[in-house]
Formats: sequence, structure tokens, C-alpha cells
Amino acid sequence: MSVRINPSILAADFVNMQRDLARIGTADFVHVDVMDNHFVPNLTFGPQMVERIQAVAGIPLDVHLMIDDPERWAPGYAELGAASVTFHAEASSDPVALARHLRSLGARAGVALKPASDAGAIADAIDEFDQVLVMTVEPGFGGQSFMPQTMPKLRALREAADARGLDVWLQVDGGIDEKTIVTAAEAGADTFVAGSSVFGAPDPAARIEELRAVAAGHRHTPGY
Ligand code: DX5
Ligand code: ZN
Repeated sequence: MSVRINPSILAADFVNMQRDLARIGTADFVHVDVMDNHFVPNLTFGPQMVERIQAVAGIPLDVHLMIDDPERWAPGYAELGAASVTFHAEASSDPVALARHLRSLGARAGVALKPASDAGAIADAIDEFDQVLVMTVEPGFGGQSFMPQTMPKLRALREAADARGLDVWLQVDGGIDEKTIVTAAEAGADTFVAGSSVFGAPDPAARIEELRAVAAGHRHTPGY
């Protein structure tokens, strides 16, 4: 099981995006937070901006859609070339059908769960997804504190994936730093989004490598 570190450009300088993307060359994916001011009370950008990020990043995109009606909008992000497209289960009328559609367009299909959302239906259909994102803060803003009460859900998803022998990636997003990444890695995460802890570092590329090394040193062991 490899470990991936995906910096969130929500913590980048939006008017110096290309400069900030050049500072995270050690990242596995660029995590791109799309917010619509309806599903979450914040607004970022849409496909036009994401397409430009894709063109200049040099690293595959991990798009996190915090939007209503993902059935309508998510396929466009796969079509513009995002490697991974994650939509929220709470916003989707049929997560399995949408995941199949995204896969048919060549993207990795991800589904996200807010902190209070149950993993049951997603765990039951886990083979339909390439990635499950366990939100470790309420979606909408960077710089919030990690919520450890989300870890039992992560452990349940790890058990579901391992029981079926699946290589589904389990991602955490929100409040991830060199301390909380230990908790999340031990609970079964293998893909880590970090915004403030990467872009707030004097050397973001080096911080990514530090986070990856910490996570790799605290891998989940079955039964934890
Ligand atoms: C929150 C976003 C996160 C956010 C993480 O809604 O989905 O990706 O940027 O930021 P930090 O790492 O600062 O909590
Ligand atoms: Zn995110």
C-alpha cells in the first residue's frame, strides 16, 4: 500500500496559482476544492479555472466537488482530464451510477462523506469506487481542526476494503498535519490531503516529503 500526499490549493495564493503549483512538485496529486456556495457556504472556482490548473500543474488533479447536483457537473471534470473526481454522497441521487459514469470517462471515481455521514451504503458498494474520502473537518474551509471522531468510520471502510481485497484508496481531508496524519494513517488512510500544513511551510515541497515519510512509518495494521 503506497502513501499519497495531495496538497490542497485552497491554501495557495489564488492570484499566484502557477507560482504556488511550482512549489509542490513532490506531490502525488494536486487537490482541487470546487465549492458552489450551496452545498457548502463558500465559493471557489469552476471548470474554467480547473482546466487551466490542469494545463500548468504537471501533476495529476484530484478534484473534490463540494457542490450540489454532481450528476450534472462532475462528468465535465472527468472530460477536461482530471485524474480523479470525487463528489459528495450527500449531494448525489445515485452514487454508484455516477461513479460508473466517471469511470467510463476515464477518471478515478471518488465519493466523499461529511463527518456526520454514515459509511454503511458506501462500504457495502465499495468496489464501485476508486477512492473514498472521509472528511475530517466540516467541508467548506481550510485551516480547521482535525476531528478524531471520524476515525471509526475510516477504520470500517478500511476493513470493508481489505475484506474484499480491494485497492480502493482511502483519503482524509481537513486538519492534516505531521501529528494528525499519524492518527489517520494508523486508522487506515493511504491518501492525505493537506492545505495549510503544506502551503504554510517555508518549503512546501519538503513538507510534503516529511508528511509522506511520517504516514509511511505509521501504516495501518489489520485489527487496529
Ligand atoms: C475543506 C477542503 C479541504 C481543505 C483542507 O472543505 O475540502 O481540502 O482545503 O485544508 P486544511 O488542510 O487547511 O484543513
Ligand atoms: Zn478537499
